[in-house]
Amino acid sequence: MSANSTQTTGIEDLWKDIQEDREKVLGILGGFEGMDPMESLIPALHELQKVYRYIPEGGARVISEEWHIPLTDIFGVVTFYADFSTQPMGRNQLWVCEGAACYFMGATTLGEVAQQRLGVAYNETTPDGEWTLHRADFCYGACHLAPLIDLNHEILGPLSEEGLRQVIDNPPRHHEGSH
Ligand code: FES
Repeated sequence: MSANSTQTTGIEDLWKDIQEDREKVLGILGGFEGMDPMESLIPALHELQKVYRYIPEGGARVISEEWHIPLTDIFGVVTFYADFSTQPMGRNQLWVCEGAACYFMGATTLGEVAQQRLGVAYNETTPDGEWTLHRADFCYGACHLAPLIDLNHEILGPLSEEGLRQVIDNPPRHHEGSH
């Protein structure tokens, strides 16, 4: 898994403050009762992100306090894995594969179409919170479908420019969570 591309300028700068919803976070942690906190950290962060569509600082602090894991360690996990975001994410997660095969089959143009249609650059979320656009610089292992996109964990390809416009204009049902 590739590293998160977010610039690391420090915990306080990165994690947006939220109204800390301690009970909700404790409810998530309750699902891991009796389990090893370090082994449960990544699954718990996934659950947290499903609820908030990003990893809020308040939630990370509750995990840190309850499981006695240094906040800096949690921060390290969140910033390492591309799965996690420190910024609110859109309901639809669109990844344009720019691995080698997709690149040679026109992924750059697909990326431009996506950015133009959505009105955002890579790693940005539309103002209505519907879409977050990502560039995947790794291979999905489905090069025979190049060029492809990953929309909410569903691989779609090979995709023409017009095909991508149609997907964006008529997206499948929303799925909570992130890549
Ligand atoms: S490079 Fe895109 S799936 Fe392999």
